[in-house]
Amino acid sequence: MLGCSDDDESDAPSAGAQALAEGQPLRKLSVLANESTQSTEFSATLAAAPTPTALQAGTLTQLWLYNGAIPGPLVELREGQHVRVVLDNRLAQDSTIHWHGMPVPPAQDGNPMDPVPPGTRRLYEFDVPHGSAGTYWYHPHPHLKTAEQVAHGLAGPVIVRAADDPLASLPDVTLFITGLRLDVHAQVEADDPIDWSVGRQKETLLVNGGRLPVHPVSPGATQRWRIVNATAARHFRLALEGHTLTLVGTDGGLLGAPIADLPEVLVAPAQRIEVVVSANAAPNGRYRLRALRHETDFLGLGSYADEDLMTMVTTSGLPAAPVIIPSALRAIAALGEPELQQLVEFDEAMGMCTSNGATVAFLINGRIFDPGRVDLVTNVGRVESWDIVNRTGMAHPFHIHGTQFQLVSRQAGTQVTPAPYLAWIDTVLVPALETATIRTRQTMPGKRMFHCHILEHEDNCMMAILDVRPS
Ligand code: C2O
Ligand code: CU
Ligand code: CU
Repeated sequence: MLGCSDDDESDAPSAGAQALAEGQPLRKLSVLANESTQSTEFSATLAAAPTPTALQAGTLTQLWLYNGAIPGPLVELREGQHVRVVLDNRLAQDSTIHWHGMPVPPAQDGNPMDPVPPGTRRLYEFDVPHGSAGTYWYHPHPHLKTAEQVAHGLAGPVIVRAADDPLASLPDVTLFITGLRLDVHAQVEADDPIDWSVGRQKETLLVNGGRLPVHPVSPGATQRWRIVNATAARHFRLALEGHTLTLVGTDGGLLGAPIADLPEVLVAPAQRIEVVVSANAAPNGRYRLRALRHETDFLGLGSYADEDLMTMVTTSGLPAAPVIIPSALRAIAALGEPELQQLVEFDEAMGMCTSNGATVAFLINGRIFDPGRVDLVTNVGRVESWDIVNRTGMAHPFHIHGTQFQLVSRQAGTQVTPAPYLAWIDTVLVPALETATIRTRQTMPGKRMFHCHILEHEDNCMMAILDVRPS
């Protein structure tokens, strides 16, 4: 486990992250302390710094962490708060903090065009609007270096809480899933050409910084789990052995109504879900939370297998009383009729974006990312329909900054499938050779990024700029 002593001479360092202790209790996330004395304000500092960490006996692994925590500390906010967070960049390269999924002004959103140089600090300042309660995350977003910085440990959760949360009485558990891949010297391994083509593979999966943790619950307990996929490129088809899941929330917070009895839920890179779990009423049960095999590329370049993430165990004792969850969670209004259609097409090309050592580049509308170019234009408040057309042989999780959007339909061949329910999302998975149609609207003027959230694709030119003009 983290912090195991390095004078334990009996264990030689082993390859990969095998020596990360398995089966420890699920860790509580460290919470970023609010330095403001006023409850309407949140102020704090996140220092991004190289952090030697004892992961394997006899060696220190150079992770890059926020405030020394793996994952980064939980930023717990309330609707209506004014937020001031300073990034103290102690890395040897540019960084930023991007507030993934949150409606923060473009200039405060950690775009690659606004780097924070090594050895400097900058203040990010924004309001948390009412209606934005949900599960988000923060991560660096520097030009060309996002994948490397996240692979070293820089990412953490954000929870925005509402005063009128209909599920407030449930125990609230955050499961922040990250990947870690170490070389034979127990250092974070650089991406190889396969990673640069399909996204970082073969990572050891950590939940709240622990390997295969154990989560004890009372028999029959009802809990709310917020699950964050903070990996670079892994698609999780999540299933809990012996249980079904009740989906209650997506990227942008609660659904209109719970969707019960789901055997599995797919969570693409960068996506979040909230599920209610009603544990079996029998004591001393063990149930694995698993990511079932899910192939996302036609060439089979990714490493695909069933993988375990965590084990829920029911303790001994009498069963907890069942909890009825409300049949209505909150109102979600459909975004209205679109005033404009926009087209976003994914293609692949050889030899167009090679600075990271990749051979294949993925393009958006035929072009590679240029931080000095505007790719699409919109106006504040305008509802648009975007067709996101994937002409490549692999799935891409498509993300737009600064807003939550709504999936309208998917198309595969001539088969059009309407979205099964209305939800706020900021990342939509577009499988190979399929099209996703969304409705989206921006509320603040400035430049917004849109990109594939496989971090190697984002760094490798599969990103573009939406200029939001005042209306
Ligand atoms: Cu989490 Cu530009 O993304
Ligand atoms: Cu984002
Ligand atoms: Cu991609």
